[in-house]
Amino acid sequence: MIFVTGGAGFIGSNFVVDWLAPRAPGGAAPGEPVLVLDCLTYAGNLANLAAVRSHPGLRFERQDICDGAAVLALLRQHRPRALLHFAAESHVDRSIRGPAEFVRTNINGTFALLEAVRAFLAELPGTERDAFRFLHVSTDEVYGSLGPADPAFSETTAYAPNSPYAASKAASDHLVRAYRHTYGLPVLTTNCSNNYGPFQFPEKLIPLVTLQALQGKPLPVYGDGSNVRDWLFVEDHCSAIRAVLERGRVGETYNIGGNSERKNLQVVTAICALVDELRPNATLQPRSNLLTYVTDRPGHDRRYAINAEKIKRELGWEPAEAFESGLRKTVAWYLDHADWIENVRTGAYLEWIEKNYGERVAQ
Ligand code: NAD
Ligand code: TYD
Repeated sequence: MIFVTGGAGFIGSNFVVDWLAPRAPGGAAPGEPVLVLDCLTYAGNLANLAAVRSHPGLRFERQDICDGAAVLALLRQHRPRALLHFAAESHVDRSIRGPAEFVRTNINGTFALLEAVRAFLAELPGTERDAFRFLHVSTDEVYGSLGPADPAFSETTAYAPNSPYAASKAASDHLVRAYRHTYGLPVLTTNCSNNYGPFQFPEKLIPLVTLQALQGKPLPVYGDGSNVRDWLFVEDHCSAIRAVLERGRVGETYNIGGNSERKNLQVVTAICALVDELRPNATLQPRSNLLTYVTDRPGHDRRYAINAEKIKRELGWEPAEAFESGLRKTVAWYLDHADWIENVRTGAYLEWIEKNYGERVAQ
């Protein structure tokens, strides 16, 4: 069995579905059970796991990762061979509005997990202990911001986090590293670029713009729209994590990226063209007319780019999906899943939209 924290969120749920019903070659041995630990914040939704709801290998515990004693009890009960740590507060804009929850879950929560795993491993026989893995899922945002001509982030780039989100993830990475060096915990860390795909909470750029465009509402572009992100289709992130879990060298970090740098403006206009094509509407087209420049995010990182040579060289992993085909699949998925969108867009979601965009002045 493996444990997956945050398995009801965007990437975690894609990972669990892939794990139990592998779509890609190199997927898990079918049937290896997974226990999802997730406290179901606004971003966690059991509907994300509907495809494997009745799979005999899926277990779920509504569990806050900050409760280390409860996590330790679950480890003792199930004796997993690995813990994959996805659970986090993950939205930069929310971290600017309310950083405390980011410190609590991302730093204290990771600390609680590390302590629980340390206590659990101390009780295991040597062979089981040697085989165990703690895989920490992190972000490229820990490296800060690149200029237009700077080389992409590598595993040796100095940490320079700029948002409370990035700082909290950087702190968690450091704790994971320290537990390796001090206590010999069998850890692996991945630092990945921006993900996109099905089941992403519709406050992040790609689902947000898709749904706004569908409804003919303004498409908020922060600043001048020329900030660059390196986009990776979520299934590729999942296959990279599987490769690191199975073949990664203990104690190492691996950068994961899509080789798909795009300016936000390019992303938004590409989404508009897809929505125009897939949901033609004479009144709303071209939806690119809905593009609205709004007040920039404070401290907005200009550019992220990942050098993913190490994971390619050592583990043979490369992204399989091109950005254009992945974006088409993603936009089509949101257009076809009105029921899922309805389900996740609760009162709390609407309050966030009002808070984040109500005060942003159109430029
Ligand atoms: P998400 O916000 O969609 O999901 C986070 C999940 O964690 C939710 O299910 C939530 O309920 C759960 N959670 C939050 N706090 C918890 C707590 N205290 N206890 C238990 N569960 C808790 O996030 P995501 O986009 O799926 O990101 C998953 C991981 O990948 C995060 O660690 C994030 O930093 C990292 N990451 C994300 C991206 C991206 O583009 N989304 C890129 C690189 C790395
Ligand atoms: P986001 O999806 O929040 O990811 P991150 O900040 O972690 O990279 O945002 C992606 C990019 O899109 C980022 O440069 C901010 C920008 N953005 C907008 O321009 N408008 C929006 O409404 C949102 C949510 C993001």
